[in-house]
Amino acid sequence: MYAQMVETGVSAVRAQAEMTPEERAFQARIDADIKIEPKDPMPDAYRRTLVRQISQHAHSEIVGMLPEGNWVTRAPTLKRKAILMAKIQDEGGHGLYLYSAAETLGVSRDQLIAELHAGRAKYSSIFNYPTLSWADIGAIGWLVDGAAIMNQIPLCRCSYGPYARAMVRICKEESFHQRQGYDIMLAMAQGTAAQKAMAQDALDRWWWPSLMMFGPSDAESVHSAQSAAWKIKILSNDELRQRFVDQTVPQAEYLGLAVPDPELRWSPERGHYDFGAIDWTEFYAVIKGDGPCNRDRMAVRVQAWEDGAWVREAAMAHAERRAARQAA
Ligand SMILES: [Fe+2]
Ligand SMILES: [Fe+2]
Repeated sequence: MYAQMVETGVSAVRAQAEMTPEERAFQARIDADIKIEPKDPMPDAYRRTLVRQISQHAHSEIVGMLPEGNWVTRAPTLKRKAILMAKIQDEGGHGLYLYSAAETLGVSRDQLIAELHAGRAKYSSIFNYPTLSWADIGAIGWLVDGAAIMNQIPLCRCSYGPYARAMVRICKEESFHQRQGYDIMLAMAQGTAAQKAMAQDALDRWWWPSLMMFGPSDAESVHSAQSAAWKIKILSNDELRQRFVDQTVPQAEYLGLAVPDPELRWSPERGHYDFGAIDWTEFYAVIKGDGPCNRDRMAVRVQAWEDGAWVREAAMAHAERRAARQAA
């Protein structure tokens, strides 16, 4: 997802008997669905895990602006351009809410950005794939934002108050993102043969990376059980992936496009779609920095940060002068 393979530092969920009285009290609050707020006591591992999860999520929002930003000048109509710019701005806003939520846990946004730029922080594997045609912008909205919603709606109920509240606001915007993407796909799928072929090509390239967004299968996810006990992971990777496939396949059929998976078929016994095996070697390579665009994304991010230094300095100087004037 936007946070993949978040380490908890805890490999097995602690039994009640092993917990300290403070840990037991904390778990009891979570079990009773009482939100944890920034000034409440919390175990260090919970705090550290949330910082990792929320910051990875924030990084994904702002790195996700890059593959789409490439298309602002090339959007086919004024209307599409305006929609795309609004969507990209929303993603910047999502990053802002999430960095702010992470800051309530005692880290600064500057620290988190520095980790990202130094290559020490993860962000979603999906944003390391190239956007080769306009149809890719449709596929990203439809599939990537669609997958994000799948994961983020349950997170509106997560145990950490600031994160849960940020998610509520983000989800409202994500549903617009998903629909604008589907609308692009629909226009192309109903367009000329060449446009339909572009839409099919985009689906062919984005389908498997979208399924990888949910992270490794549950059997491989060693940290998931603790995150589930803390209610910062509500549904498992495989459950979310299955929901996504079940929701998306009929949408592809409506577009008249073929999902690039020969093993995909409806299973009446399970009441779900069966689907083929995911290439996890590719996923791990992308997560470790060897995807098609990892280096390019970071270079562009760092360049944007450096180019914006004068704006930050000017804003700080303005704020200091204003504070001095008010003090006088
Ligand atoms: Fe977003
Ligand atoms: Fe989005």
